[in-house]
This record gives sequence, structure tokens and C-alpha cells, in this order.
Amino acid sequence: MKRTKIIDLLAAQPGGEVTAMGWVRSHRGSKNVDFIALNDGSTIKNIQVVADPTKFDEQLMKDITTGACIAVEGQLVESVGSGQAVEIQATKITLYGMCDNTYPMQKKGQSFEFMRQHAHMRLRTNTFGAIMRIRHNMAIAIHTYFHEHGFFYFHTPLITASDCEGAGNMFQVTTKNLYDLKRDKDGKIIYDDDFFGEQTSLTVSGQLEGELGATALGQIYTFGPTFRAENSNTPRHLAEFWMIEPEMAFYDKDDLMDLEEDFIKYCVKWALDNCKDDLEFLNKMIDKTLIERLEGVLKETFVRLPYTEGINILQEAIKKGKKFEFPCNWGDDLASEHERYLVEEHFKKPVIMTDYPKEIKSFYMKQNADGKTMQGTDVLFPSIGEIIGGSVREESYEKLMAEVERRQMDTTHLWWYLDTRRWGSCPHAGFGLGFERLILFVTGMQNIRDVIPFPRTPGNAAF
Ligand code: 4AD
Ligand code: MG
Repeated sequence: MKRTKIIDLLAAQPGGEVTAMGWVRSHRGSKNVDFIALNDGSTIKNIQVVADPTKFDEQLMKDITTGACIAVEGQLVESVGSGQAVEIQATKITLYGMCDNTYPMQKKGQSFEFMRQHAHMRLRTNTFGAIMRIRHNMAIAIHTYFHEHGFFYFHTPLITASDCEGAGNMFQVTTKNLYDLKRDKDGKIIYDDDFFGEQTSLTVSGQLEGELGATALGQIYTFGPTFRAENSNTPRHLAEFWMIEPEMAFYDKDDLMDLEEDFIKYCVKWALDNCKDDLEFLNKMIDKTLIERLEGVLKETFVRLPYTEGINILQEAIKKGKKFEFPCNWGDDLASEHERYLVEEHFKKPVIMTDYPKEIKSFYMKQNADGKTMQGTDVLFPSIGEIIGGSVREESYEKLMAEVERRQMDTTHLWWYLDTRRWGSCPHAGFGLGFERLILFVTGMQNIRDVIPFPRTPGNAAF
């Protein structure tokens, strides 16, 4: 089937026979002329099809309803109407798929909640088309950035026997008959007859294996799905999300923060340079300050703020009458309301928060000399909160082992990780960017369920 994509038709000079194929966005008819707005997903823009109804079968014209799929052959001509440079003067229309009035996406202005329930069809709407094209562009930006900066794309396993974040939020992977489990005399499940011969789960992060890559190849990044069985029903959490995890040998905390900032700005600039039409649509329909906010991030130098100073700022704000739902004393994990206060109200720009209390961070982070804090470097963003979680890694075998023991971690599944510190250990650092949180920021959407085609959340695995 030979067709020209609508994005190319709209950029073409008038003249010549063309074929367009796509889904009908709207069809207005009158005695003398019919106008069909056709979209094929290649761009947010529709091509206008003009048809003389007396030259087409009456039933065919009736069947060209919103959502129907058609092929149009005709002349590409200069458009007399405003709003488009060219349009198709139709000579032949083929109806591929009818679409009756039960089609859930035919009405404009439906709620996002309604569209989530019809996620299999929402991709055909303007908003979701725009989001998915931006999502694609962000993936290309990420690969381009790392490739151009000499990072190797490194594939870490999705099925694992270790818990990187140590939070226990993992989905088990098993081929065992769950109705007939073999147990030892204490009632614990025996896994030696399971597929892998031990208990395994879907990974929460590729970092630990990423460190093996970085301490051999110098600089690597991962880009893949990660899974978290946290029961967090928030607009920022998914049970299955995509994460980008660069890991670099010979990086200290400043190098790491420089990379975090440069990388995010590159992605945002890529969106502004490559997704103009879709961003303009979202700016008009979803969030009137979107483009301004994206441009703003490029101009700002991110604030670099030690956790302890952040707590002082929050405490000052409370003294002046600011109310928070959750406490924020030294040692507390900041809630998103605290992060957003610092970013949106206090500094009014992105913040890289550093040097967190070790009790609220993972075992692998580099310990500071104060004995209390660790070299984390999380990036906090306006309207998102935490977009990046990063840290310098503890490279000393003794210190890392002491921390593992202090946390009473089971080292059975970590021996290979600990070996990196035993032989040729090196200073290194890395971070994880939540892909959907980046897409939230770049699109101005409010709910993370609306920036991934088919979201996985507690109680929802449909589609
Ligand atoms: O802060 P996190 O848990 O860090 C790690 O997993 C490290 N191992 C990363 C590293 O240093 N290589 O997660 C990293 C990022 C968060 O900042 C957030 O953007 C995103 O992943 N994220 C989620 N996104 C959507 N849904 C969830 N449930 C998420 N949990 C984390
Ligand atoms: Mg984190």
C-alpha cells in the first residue's frame, strides 16, 4: 500500500496525485462540499480532505464518521481556507473500518479518568498522540546524549535474585505451583526446585549490575523497565516504569551533579527543538505555562542544597506559618510537599539535594566523614518532586561491608557486587532518572498514568 504520511503532505508543494490514509477526526457535510479532517498519527496536525458529495456514493459519505479509517486519493492542492497551506481534493475514498457512535473516543473533552478506562483507544486522541510522540523523542534524546558522550548502552537483567534498593518491594518470579509449596520445618518456602533454584524477582533497578559495567567499560547507561510492588496510589508512582541509569567510573559528587544537570537540560532542549507542534498543542490544551517552564529550566542553574540546609529552610518556613501534612525534622525522608516547597516556592528553580542522612538512603551510597550522612544527589523538579535519584557509591570494601552488616543484609545474593570493591575498586557514581517523571515534566501532564501507553498500578493490569 502506497501512502504519503500526513506530516510529509503538509510540508509538500501543491500539485500531483497523492494518497493519504488515516482516521477521521471530523466530517462536516453540506450539499456542495464535504470537509474531512484526517489524522494518521504522524503529526498532531490533520490534513483537510475536500470532497464533492455528488461524486461519491451517498452511503459511503454517511459512513465516514469520527473515528472511521479511510484511504483518500486525490490532488494535493493549495488550500483556499485558512489554517492549512494544502488540502486534498478527493477523487476516490476507500473505507477500511467503520466506526459507529459507540466509539468511546468520539466526544471531545472527555476526562482523563474516562480515557484511562479506555486506554486501548485513547492513543487515537490528539493529546495521547502528542504525548506518545514526545515519549519517543525523549527516548531518542537519551540514547543520543549518552552515545555522543561516550557511554555504552548496557543491558542489565530484569529477573534478579538481589534487591538493589533493599526496600523489599519486589514482584516474585516463579514457576512453582503456588497451591502446593514445599516448605522446610520452620515453614519457609524451599526454592531449590524452582526454575532458577532460588527465590527470584523482577528488578527494581539495574544499578548493581550497572556498577559492574562501569567499573569495566568506564561509563555505561541502562534504559529499561523496572518494577516496584509499592502500594503507592499517587500521580507519581507506577508499578512498572522505565528507568535510565548511567554509571560512571572516576566520578565524584560534583562530576555527578554536573552530569545530572547537563543531561536533563539536553532532554528538555531536545523536546523544544524537535516536538514543537506537539508542545504547542499541549501548551494550549493542557498547561498554558508549559513551554515557558521548559524554557525556564534551560536558563536556570540548579541549586545544590545539602539536606541539612534544606531542613533548616523548611523549619524556618514552619516558624513563619507554613503548614505541612508530614513532619520534616532532621532524619525524616522528605515528602513531596517538602520537595515542592523548596523547588516551587523557596528557590523557584530545580534543586539538587545532597548529603542525606544514611538512615533514609540505600546501603551502597558513599559515606561522609561526619559518620551521619551519605553522598546522595537527588534532583527535585517543579511540579514533579524527585525526578532523579543518584549518589556517589561507597568504594571502600570495609566501609561497605560495615554498612551491610549494620543493616543486617543477607549477603548470599550480593557477593558478586561486593567483589567489585575487593578487586580494583574505584571511585564511581551514578543516578537513575524515572522516564515517566521526565515525560510528565515535558508534557505538563498531571498523572503518571497518562504518560505511558498502558499503566500498571495497584489493582490495574488491564490491556
Ligand atoms: O530513587 P530511586 O529509587 O533510585 C534507584 O533506584 C537507584 N538505584 C538509581 C541509581 O542510582 N542508579 O529511583 C530512581 C528514579 C526516581 O528518582 C524516580 O524518578 C523514579 O526512578 N521512580 C519512579 N517512577 C515511577 N514510579 C515509581 N514507583 C518510581 N520509583 C522511582
Ligand atoms: Mg529516590
